[in-house]
Amino acid sequence: MGVNGLEQERDQWASKIGLILAMAGNAVGLGNFVRFPTQVAQNGGGAFMVPYFLALFLLGIPIMWVEWVAGRYGGKYGHGTIGPTYYLMARESLKPKSALIMGTISGMVAFAGVTLLNSYYLHLIGWSAAYTWFSITGAYFGKNTGSFFSNYLSNHAEVLLFWGITIVTIAIAVGRGVSKGIEKWVKIMMPLLYIFAIIMVGYVFVLGSPINPNWSTLDGFSFIWSPNWVYLKEHFATVMLAAAGQIFFTLSLGMGIIQNYASYLGPNDDVALSGIATVSLNEFAEVILGGSLAIPLATAYAPKIVPATVLSQGKGAALAWIGHKFGLGFAYTSLPNAFVSMGQAGRFFGALWFLLLWFAGWTSAIAMYNYLVALFEEDLNIKRSIGTWIVLLIYFILGLPVIYIGLDKYVTPLDNWISFQLTLLALLDIIVAVYLFKPSNFWEELHKGAYTRVPTFYKWITLIVAPIFLLIPLVGTFKGFVSGGIPGSVGAAIIIMFIIGAVETYYAIKRKYGEEIKENKVLVKV
Ligand code: PHE
Repeated sequence: MGVNGLEQERDQWASKIGLILAMAGNAVGLGNFVRFPTQVAQNGGGAFMVPYFLALFLLGIPIMWVEWVAGRYGGKYGHGTIGPTYYLMARESLKPKSALIMGTISGMVAFAGVTLLNSYYLHLIGWSAAYTWFSITGAYFGKNTGSFFSNYLSNHAEVLLFWGITIVTIAIAVGRGVSKGIEKWVKIMMPLLYIFAIIMVGYVFVLGSPINPNWSTLDGFSFIWSPNWVYLKEHFATVMLAAAGQIFFTLSLGMGIIQNYASYLGPNDDVALSGIATVSLNEFAEVILGGSLAIPLATAYAPKIVPATVLSQGKGAALAWIGHKFGLGFAYTSLPNAFVSMGQAGRFFGALWFLLLWFAGWTSAIAMYNYLVALFEEDLNIKRSIGTWIVLLIYFILGLPVIYIGLDKYVTPLDNWISFQLTLLALLDIIVAVYLFKPSNFWEELHKGAYTRVPTFYKWITLIVAPIFLLIPLVGTFKGFVSGGIPGSVGAAIIIMFIIGAVETYYAIKRKYGEEIKENKVLVKV
């Protein structure tokens, strides 16, 4: 029974393996296979990897634990959304009236995240579905892949078709619930995703120098794996910022969706080992698999990818070009040239690569989708079966600027904002779910039902090192906005989502805990 006796038994993950695969699916996404190589390429290759691992150990791992703890705690009270959960956690130190403010702020940020990020993320996944098909049919073979991509984007009917296939399959899975829907699908998709990636990485390892003895996959590997201290020293702040941003993005932190999935745990289910398992599965998919695909492929096929004028200036210039060009569009414009050069095999590997992206994105997008469905279900009392289709409509509307305004003017600036927002919510994680919840409660919760003990020094990393380290990306990205500005349409979208998020969260918390907030003393306790 829920808090007010209104809710029915909450759905829970049916099996440990299902939960771990769902969490891995949540974290492993386009971030691992497209964004990671992009960040590496744009931030001096080996220069990036040092702060990347630092950010993993000092931010990624502790905040992952914080979000698991918070999620399971909220679930105990029947909540899978951030607003009410953080209200309850803040209440441990604050009076209900002040806790309401902290809950509202946190819930607002999470709401803006799951609506805005997924609005374009779903489109990127839709492009991957389309390109799986185009690889099988060989549609871009023998064509200029750049103009093929822009032609595709301007064909709105086609874009909507593949976007539609993506979102309708997600809606069907979400509509069946967490254990019967999401869990069933990820149990098939995640193992396949790893198999696809391993097959492709195997191919990359034997590829060597496929078209020109001067260019091999090894160029790509050494670009990533030789630490470049000089570059790191010269661009220290930028690289640190990019590394921390990538860690949040790839681990799905600062969004509310790890908490949402963790809310479907039983109150004594392990979070300590499961949290670290999520991180490990994600990092394997990112560093080992993601790191062995796009960049080595791009260097091995550099003569087909890099323009002749740049190539003639030598290897350094060509690598710099690849580094600069890598970005959201790279996977759909430059990389296909590598598949074309493989001949018939390219159709297979092209299809495998894009299907891999589709699976990776799909299993992350579904977590954001489920957050909103949970919000309708728990905060607003709207049935899952109906909420599912309302969410589809919301994403359809929010996706329109992606189609009509486009990649450079809408998606990229919005994506920059999202990096900032993830960091902001991660800071709120530590403030609310650790400090206001009380560090001793946090540590106790982390070890409740735990399969492993977390070393004590991680308590200090979480309490002191992580929040200080967090300030680097927080201040850095904020400065970027002040100097770079935000396009009007993007700004408008952000403000609207913040307002709706704040109103919804405030209402949701008041609806459940109105009485104790009015009296300003804790009444509901489970
Ligand atoms: N972690 C997923 C990825 O790497 C997607 C995601 C990013 C989800 C950020 C939430 C927040 O693509």
